[in-house]
Amino acid sequence: MPDEKVLERKGFLGLVTWAIGGLISLGLGIPAISYLIGPSLQKPEGQDWIRLGSSKKVEFGKPTLFKTTIQRQTGWIVNDEEVSAYIYTEGGREFIAFSNICSHLSCRVRWIDDQDQFFCPCHNAVFDRNGLVVSGPPPRPLDRYQVKIEDDQIYIQGV
Ligand code: FES
Repeated sequence: MPDEKVLERKGFLGLVTWAIGGLISLGLGIPAISYLIGPSLQKPEGQDWIRLGSSKKVEFGKPTLFKTTIQRQTGWIVNDEEVSAYIYTEGGREFIAFSNICSHLSCRVRWIDDQDQFFCPCHNAVFDRNGLVVSGPPPRPLDRYQVKIEDDQIYIQGV
């Protein structure tokens, strides 16, 4: 009979040991797994609407540059990032949003009002008011973003 009690006690201690081991594994494993897969569960880049400012700042028939700062997460690192875009409208109903980054080698383009064109100083590229390449080495037009106006505020998406 005493041998049975010893066996029962050994069985119980073994069970307790496994239970404590399991709890420790869960305590360490769950945070480790969420740390590893957490960033992959976040929204892909370019899915958020970014507020640029009041649509009243846009002059009709003239691309207007807007700048703002957003926080962008890359993996586990969060950085402040400046976002800029030209907003263009003919009559205030339809708006177009252009990237101000040249499609050649990513220099910043700027609107030259008296020449009615975008100019990239890096390799002298010229784009028209619709962002189409007029001259120079860029392989494609200026990128466009989705744009919407809510409560007179301009939002872009796709950056
Ligand atoms: S970077 Fe704009 S033309 Fe080369």
